[in-house]
Amino acid sequence: MRGYAVAGIVMLSLCILTAGCVPPPRMSGTLESADAGEQASSIDPVFLPPSPDTIPGDQRGDAIRMGYLMVVDTQGYGKRYVGNALNCTNCHIDAGLNPNAASFVGISTLYPQHDPRTNRVMSLEDRINDCVERNMNGTPIPPESTRLSAVVAYIEWLSQNVPPGSAVPWRGISRITSTRPPDPVNGKTVFEKKCVVCHGTDGQGSMAAPPVWGPRSYTIGADMARVGVAASFIKANMPRGWGWTVTDDEAFDVASYINSQPRPDFPGKTNDWLNGGKPGDVPY
Ligand code: HEC
Ligand code: HEC
Repeated sequence: MRGYAVAGIVMLSLCILTAGCVPPPRMSGTLESADAGEQASSIDPVFLPPSPDTIPGDQRGDAIRMGYLMVVDTQGYGKRYVGNALNCTNCHIDAGLNPNAASFVGISTLYPQHDPRTNRVMSLEDRINDCVERNMNGTPIPPESTRLSAVVAYIEWLSQNVPPGSAVPWRGISRITSTRPPDPVNGKTVFEKKCVVCHGTDGQGSMAAPPVWGPRSYTIGADMARVGVAASFIKANMPRGWGWTVTDDEAFDVASYINSQPRPDFPGKTNDWLNGGKPGDVPY
């Protein structure tokens, strides 16, 4: 009975996500960290996540549904591993189904992949745990945990219509560029006008939105701690529901303001970019 109810809720929310919400078309852009793994291909798949009706009713289907729950309610289902107030879906918007917010669709076909930041080959499990540690200030989910294999099962299921070896044009967050150095003073003004209503005057979040700085936010080692990444995410997705309404300069200014505020350290940063290639907006 309980299983049925949970499955019903999940199916319903996935239906809403896939059918009800039509995200804006993905703008062109590149993901630096993806370059190494991306292969040139004549196949250009369309963004076509599978229908929730096709989640199998067997054990594998149960794992996929658990993976979905981990992504949308990491605070509940991944509680032991998360060290801040975030859920995966706060950044991988619409449970990884939004092509403008580091979508999970097609991603499993790209791993394992060399990661320039840590100079090692990462499995999809490793990359998920990288987000758990950096973006969620957490501790890695053990490799044998069914919670970790569930997230992988969910991402693989979302990726089923993307043939291995094909390009994933909507991958990552499409990068914008600024016309001048970011101005955190103007960023504060933008934040007060367009962000405090949900994220709070102190950036600590509210019932309406997660924190963007402070002890319950992402670490300085996070992807989102880079001004260029945060600006690009904000441009396409914020204010929530009103993506593409701030100018590129406003997005950079407000990102530089947010990322100049205090947030948790990431001690593992000393092992990053040892082979060079560190992007200019890495804050350490
Ligand atoms: C209408 C409410 C609302 C407004 C206004 C808003 N946000 Fe958000 N923001 C959200 C929600 C909700 C999420 C989480 C997305 C989700 O779970 O679907 C989020 C997520 C984020 C995140 C990533 C998650 C995190 O907390 O680190 C950042 C960064 C962010 N917003 C920045 C901004 C900035 C900058 C502005 C102003 C330009 C802004 N937001 C305006 C509601 C809002
Ligand atoms: C604070 C925001 C944030 C949170 C929370 C977060 N991530 Fe991420 N994640 C990112 C960003 C930003 C990237 C890199 C996107 C880019 O470089 O364009 C990323 C990248 C990834 C990638 C690699 C995508 C690719 O294209 O190769 C995976 C997989 C991933 N995250 C999974 C997760 C999972 C699972 C969770 C929850 C356990 C999670 N993330 C939580 C921000 C976040």
